[in-house]
Parts: sequence; structure tokens; C-alpha cells
Amino acid sequence: MEKANNSKPSKRDSFGSSFGVLVALAGSAVGLGNLWRFPYLVGQNGGAAFILIYLGFVILAGLPVMLAEFIIGRRSQASARKAFLTLAPGSRWDITGVLGVICCILILSFYSVVGGWGTEYLYKAVCFDFNTGNDQALKTMFSNFSTSVWRPLICHSIFLALTAGIVIAGVQNGIEKFSKVMMPVLFLIVIGIAVRSMTLKGSGPGLDYLFKPDWSKVTSQTFLAALGQAFFSLSLGSCMVVTYASYVKKDANILSLSAQTAAADTVFALIAGCAIMPAVFAFGISPGEGPDLVFITLPHIFSQMPMGGIIAIFFFLALLLAALTSAISILEVIVAFCIEEFKMKRGVAVALVFILIWILGALCSLSMGPLDSFKILGRNIFDLFDFLSANFLMLIGGLLVVIFVGWKLGRKVVFDEVNNGGSLKMAPWLLKTLLFLIRFAAPAALLAIAFFQIHE
Ligand code: PHE
Repeated sequence: MEKANNSKPSKRDSFGSSFGVLVALAGSAVGLGNLWRFPYLVGQNGGAAFILIYLGFVILAGLPVMLAEFIIGRRSQASARKAFLTLAPGSRWDITGVLGVICCILILSFYSVVGGWGTEYLYKAVCFDFNTGNDQALKTMFSNFSTSVWRPLICHSIFLALTAGIVIAGVQNGIEKFSKVMMPVLFLIVIGIAVRSMTLKGSGPGLDYLFKPDWSKVTSQTFLAALGQAFFSLSLGSCMVVTYASYVKKDANILSLSAQTAAADTVFALIAGCAIMPAVFAFGISPGEGPDLVFITLPHIFSQMPMGGIIAIFFFLALLLAALTSAISILEVIVAFCIEEFKMKRGVAVALVFILIWILGALCSLSMGPLDSFKILGRNIFDLFDFLSANFLMLIGGLLVVIFVGWKLGRKVVFDEVNNGGSLKMAPWLLKTLLFLIRFAAPAALLAIAFFQIHE
């Protein structure tokens, strides 16, 4: 095991401030996962019962994995694979980094397609295209659009180009600057919509749907859904945190950054739930699932709501911003890997990764329409990428990361990184609890879920 390499080239980019790190991490965490996945998962899985299980997983598994990724990234100051090589030379732990990069390639491919849909719907909102007031017309609008060939491809290209444009500017000048401005805007928009939604007449049942515990809906699948959602939403197991943490200065408090990121993400998910469900119920519509919720149900509601036209514009703007700040973090993992493994210039790396993701994303997009009958493991390409990354690679990545940090790097490294070599005063019980969570609680939760999944 090697000590951190402090003689890195000074050229390596870094975040400018702790606030910059926090908004960038929160930007990555807050994304499509919060805006459409969380609200309907909550509803399907017993409301507050699901939220409690979700919170339990965030603390027991999410936080330790995030901290472990932080330790790997900040200590090594290197991108996904090199980070493991630096800390454990001569071992095969670097495979964890490679899996993280593969996971990011899969996620970004379908994420960019959905981000493209968001771009198209922002455009439709600006043109007041939802004013048909007719549910069937909105259904047809979405299915005609998402199953067609060219328009979704153009939108995917625009979204990916925006993402690449920010990443090409670098960590401090691109990612940090963009997140610092956009994250507060995003929070304000969603809070505004939540206030509007909760003050609609008849919004009460929507809040019940979100916050009333219904334990009868809790099954082993609920636990799997809660853990999968916690990982996806906190961007864990994909080496995203490893990569961002490698740009974090040695004096930053990584425990408080991890806790603040997890808190911001969870609070945002709850506010998003309050923005969406009360309005859905106030108009007597049953909440849809997945893309249907955002691209069919909500436009239908906006078309009926007073001031709905304007709210629709703000909502899709929020969706686009949330998706962009997440997409840049996914792209950065792949780009940083290319820069450090193949000694590429940032511009060249971004261009090559753009081409790769464009092609894979195009396949995902076409799998909604012309390629729909092409199935692997019973799934079309879009669903396959989603399944492989969120239900499989992220969980394996998370498990490997906590085992690596808890057992391979060990106690001294964990304590040393968490309290910055003793310069942050921390109670011994806190450090021991964190070590326990990394060594036992997180692996146990992840293994239990893997067991459930195999036995379903
Ligand atoms: N956390 C993001 C979301 O909720 C998705 C994401 C996954 C981002 C993995 C980065 C890495 O939408």
C-alpha cells in the first residue's frame, strides 16, 4: 500500500473552494433520479414507509460508500483506475475503477437521451404546446416523439454538446462555475413549484400519498428499490465521487462534504415529491411511472393549472439543469480516465468520448422506436443499459469500494483521511462508527440485497 503521491504535476485541475465542491457534488447527485424516479417509487412502495427505508439506506450504505470513494479520490488525487493503482500498486483492485468507467459510459448513453427529451419538452413548453388540455393528445405527442428517428437524435446531440461544452472548460472553470450558478437556481425553481402545487385545492391526498406510511406495500422488492435508488441518486459506485474527490484539496472536511451532499440530495428529492404529487392529485389524475409521469402526466396538469404555461417552462428548465449538472459529472469520470490513462489533452478526450456516447446514446434512442424489437436479456438497449448500470454495476462498485477502503487500506488510512491527519478534531467514537459502517454495515446491506435479488 502506497502513501498518497504528493508530487503530482501541479497542472492537475482542482476545485476552487469547499462550496464549489459541495455544489458540484450536489449537482451530480440531484438529477433525473430525483425529479421523476423518486416521487413515483415513493408512491408505489408505501409512501413514508419507503422514505424511512430509503433514509436508512442513505445512512447505512450511501454515506459509507460516499466516504470511501472520497477517501480513495482525495488520497490518490487520480482518476478512477489510477486511483486504485496508486493506493494499491501491483494488485488488481484497479478493475473497480474500470468498472466505474464502464458504468458511467452506460449511464451517460441513456441519460443523454432522456436529457434530450427534456430539451425538447422545454422547447414545447416555451411554445405553449401543451395547451391541448387533452390527455390522449399528450400521450400521442410523447410516443410519436420518443419513437421517431431524427428529432430525439437531434435533441440527444444538443444535450450531449451542452454537457461536453461545460466539461471541456475544465473542473474549476467549467464544472464548478456552472454548478455554482445553476444549483441555487434549480433549488429556487423547485421550491417555487412545490409552494404552488401544495396550495392548489385538493392537494392533500398527494401529500398523503407521499408521506403516509403504508407498510402493507413493503416487500423485499421495496428494499431493493430503495437501495438502488439511494445509489443512483447519490451517484455512488460509479467512481464519480472518486473522480470529483481527486480535485479536492487536502484540508477539506470530507465527512461534512459527504453528509451535506447526501442531505442536499435527499431534501431535493422530497421537495420534488412535494412539487409533483400534490398537483397530480389535485387534478384527480393517477400518478404515472417513469417517463410517463414527467412527459405525459405533468404536461397534462400544467395545461389545466392556472399559470400552468409558465410553470411548465420553469419545470422543464429545472429538469434540464438537473440533468446537465449530473451529466457533466458522468462525462468527467470518463474524460479524466482518458486524460490520465492515455495522456490525451482534455479537448481531444472530450471529443472522442462525445463520439462514443453519441453512438451508444443513438442506439438507446432508436431502441424506443425502430430498434425496439432488438432485445438482449429480454430488454431493449435503453432498458438494458439502465438495468446493467443502476441494478448491477453501481451496487458491485459500491461493495468493492467499501471492502477496498475498510479492509485493504484499513483503519489508519480511514482515520487519517477523515480527520485530515489529526488536524480536524473528531471524537474517537465517531471515527470508529464510520469505520464500522464502512467495514460491516455497508457490505452487509449490499450483500443482503444481492441475496434477495438472486432469490426473487
Ligand atoms: N445521481 C444522478 C441522478 O439522480 C445520476 C448519476 C448517476 C450521476 C451516477 C452521476 C453518476 O440523476
